[in-house]
Formats: sequence, C-alpha cells, structure tokens
Amino acid sequence: MQSFGSRTGLKPKPDWLGADPELEQELKEVERRIVHQASLFDSGAEAYVRYALEGGGKRLRPALVLLAGKVAGGWSEAIRDLAVIVELVHVASLIHDDVLDRADLRRSRATCNAKWGVELSVLLGDALFAHGLQLATKLENAEVARKIAEASRNLCEGEILQTQRRFDLKLSTMDYLHVVGLKTGALFRVAAEVPFIVYGAAEVKREAARSFGQQLGVAYQIYDDCLDLFGTDEESGKTLGTDLRKGKWTLPVLHALQTLPKEDSEKLRTQLVGEEGVGGVAEKVKEAGGLKFALRKAVELLERAKGDLKVLGEGGEAKKLTSMTDRLQGYLKTASDE
Ligand code: FPP
Ligand code: MG
Repeated sequence: MQSFGSRTGLKPKPDWLGADPELEQELKEVERRIVHQASLFDSGAEAYVRYALEGGGKRLRPALVLLAGKVAGGWSEAIRDLAVIVELVHVASLIHDDVLDRADLRRSRATCNAKWGVELSVLLGDALFAHGLQLATKLENAEVARKIAEASRNLCEGEILQTQRRFDLKLSTMDYLHVVGLKTGALFRVAAEVPFIVYGAAEVKREAARSFGQQLGVAYQIYDDCLDLFGTDEESGKTLGTDLRKGKWTLPVLHALQTLPKEDSEKLRTQLVGEEGVGGVAEKVKEAGGLKFALRKAVELLERAKGDLKVLGEGGEAKKLTSMTDRLQGYLKTASDE
C-alpha cells in the first residue's frame, strides 16, 4: 500500500510531553520498575516477559498517570505502582492485538507472535495482564483494582465489537467511536482518574479527570488509525495497513464512504470488501477529505478534554496536563491543515 507519512506530515511520535526534566526523571524510575517485573516471573518465562517489557514504546499511559497523580496529590509509591500496572495491561493488550492483526513489527522489533508464534504470545499476554491485576489488588484502595479490571474488560469488549463488525459496510461513525472509546479510551480514562481515587478526591474532580482521559484516548486512537492508513512502517516502527486488510473501517474511511458521490462511494465499497486488494484506497480516502475530517474530529475532542481540565484547577501542575493536550492538539491541527 502506498504511504503518505511524510507527505501528510503525520509524524508517528509527536513530542506531546515536551521537555520536563522532573517528569522524565520520574518516568525513568517507572521504566526501571516496569522492566523489573520480568524478574518476578518463573525463570522459564522471564526472558519472554523481559522482551515484551523492554520494548520501550512511548509510555504515554504511565506519563498520564504521573501527570494526573501530580495534580491529584503528588508522586507516591501508589502512583508509581499505578503507572506500572497501567503499562502492564497496555503491553499485554498489544501482544494480543498483534496476534489478532497478524502484525510482525512493533516498536521497530519483531512482535512476540513473529518471534514465538500465537500460542506463546496469547499466554504471555495473559500472564502480563494477570500480573498487572495482581499488583492492583495490592494497592490499599480496593476501588483501584476494580477500575483497572473494568477498563481491561472494556478493552476486550472493544476488540470483540471491532472483530464482530469487520467488513461491515453498515458501520457508522458512532459505532466506530464507541469501539474506540472502549478499546483505547478506557485505559486512558483509568490512567487519568485513578490517581484522584488514590487521593480520595471529590467526585466532581474524578469525573473531570475520567472524561479528560476518555477523550484524550479516543483522540489518540483516531490519530493512530490515520497513521495506519497514511504512515509508513519504517517511521512508525510497526506493521501498518492492517486495518484495511482486516476490514476495520476507521474514521477517515467512514467519512469517505459517507461523503463521496454515490457512484464513487459504491466503487470504494466494492473495493473494500472485494478480492482485488486495497491498493489506492488511501489516496481515494485522502482525496475525499477523510484524513482532514478525522484529524479535525480528534482536535475537537481535545478541545473538550481541555474543558474538563478547567475543573482540576488552573495551578502549575494542572497546567502541565493542559500544555500536553495543547501540544498534541496543535500538532494534529497543523497536520489537518496540510
Ligand atoms: C491497539 O489497536 C489495541 C488496543 C488499543 C487494545 C487491544 C486489546 C485487546 C487485544 C484485548 C486484550 C486485552 C487485555 C487486557 C489482555 P490497533 O491495532 O488499532 O493499534 P496498533 O496500530 O498499535 O496495532
Ligand atoms: Mg494492531
């Protein structure tokens, strides 16, 4: 499939955290703790777990836990543990996702399924997920574990719906946003909300953090879906183009299907579900304004997310969450104007 990565200016790793030495230092400590988890597994399983955890990645969810944690009451052992737990669930879900997507490349390295096959990868994902939940039960407040388990269930529900609706040309924009809210929004939501639970914050703050995280997660997934269609494997370090091949219609494609003149829309539909392959679909979707529409939707969600942040106060710590959202929004806005 032809890629538009550099032409659209869609970068795989926008620097949305900016330069923040204090946060970077704390993230290093969280990183050390994430990798340390491997040594807690049976010696026969340790190397697989280590490979999965040492993959790096952007560690966006731990960063979100730390930023929200600072606003909620400060960095503490519970907040650091939470950052580790959320990343463990995320890594577990990506191992399973790569099995489902038959992806070979993730974070510029071979995926677990490419290295060791499906059976081992499913078990590895299960083990990491169970380990994350086990750590969550050790936190003082039982509601934390319940929230993590609920979000994990949401992730799986999102994947179930997505799988069920593959190649379904009746999928609506609302259906898509519902799936994305479950599969990605949910973990961002707990990353932002749970620090406020840890510190016993008022419900109004919890709700604001929850809504902020949810919308940030959905905006992020919309952008990630644009990348799947318009980015390049080399730049992003993962196997792209899997969505179309697996019949997952994402926002740019849905917009094109809904807005193209009837005849062109019909042609696109036929191609999407036909045997001829999906060559040229990305170009058609872009010409139909699908990329622009999707990026603008993400920008709109981030605007609403910033509105939620106002409830968390205007102070120095809350400002960091706003600047982070601003940076991502500014980047997506620029990309949508190109
Ligand atoms: C990325 O999707 C995948 C997710 C956001 C969630 C995946 C969840 C599961 C497979 C359920 C299993 C969950 C647990 C807790 C073990 P993507 O394919 O759009 O993103 P990508 O481009 O990064 O692959
Ligand atoms: Mg995938």
